[in-house]
Amino acid sequence: MELYEAIYKRQTTRDFKDKLVPDDVLERIINAGLQAPTHEHLRNWEFVILKDKEDKRKGLQFIKKGTEPQLEILKQILVDGTAQQKMYAVAMPRQYSMLMNASHVILPFFKSTSGVLNPSCVSSLNPIASIWCVIENIFLSATAEGLACSMRIPVGEEGKNVAEVVGAPENYLLPCYIGLGYPADDTPIVEQMQYTAEQKIHIGKW
Ligand SMILES: Cc1cc2nc3c(=O)[nH]c(=O)nc-3n(C[C@H](O)[C@H](O)[C@H](O)COP(=O)(O)O)c2cc1C
Repeated sequence: MELYEAIYKRQTTRDFKDKLVPDDVLERIINAGLQAPTHEHLRNWEFVILKDKEDKRKGLQFIKKGTEPQLEILKQILVDGTAQQKMYAVAMPRQYSMLMNASHVILPFFKSTSGVLNPSCVSSLNPIASIWCVIENIFLSATAEGLACSMRIPVGEEGKNVAEVVGAPENYLLPCYIGLGYPADDTPIVEQMQYTAEQKIHIGKW
């Protein structure tokens, strides 16, 4: 698939077919992730893959507790009928199933520095910026393979708890869970906020 086609086709998918992604495809996707640009030339990234049901169950056990406080906050801030509210209405009930029912769950870990969780300036966040470049490469290469991804950001202690369960070293952080698989045929289409470059470009001065 051509790059622009993958960029335009990529969509967060939260319903998957019950079909396994072959190991060689998974490897190609992780290798694409590893081509991402990196702060300090380091590529300090590791990937824990959850494939067996029991491994997934262990790794995903903290999600339900994490979504409860999230739902309370969302109820207060979301405006009914907006595209954002409609997206959350699709997304929130699926936070667990969109990972549990994916062929594989990818846990992309990055090595943290002392400034990451206590930043003094934007560049303190470079390790996080770098892993998000990896994550986007994973999304695009999955799309190019005819696959799709779901993604959840762990909240509160969720990421730390997952890291502990899968045995990650203490200085490695989890920015998100990624579900990888074949998209279901009947997954709901989420209305998007769409913009064009013409609307967003400011030549010379904002
Ligand atoms: C930083 C970030 C955090 C996100 N967190 C979640 C999440 O916790 N759960 C979820 O279902 N989707 C999450 N998403 C996916 C967004 O909901 C999705 O990207 C957005 O609605 C646009 O839809 P699209 O990805 O299909 O273009 C997140 C996306 C980003 C970039």
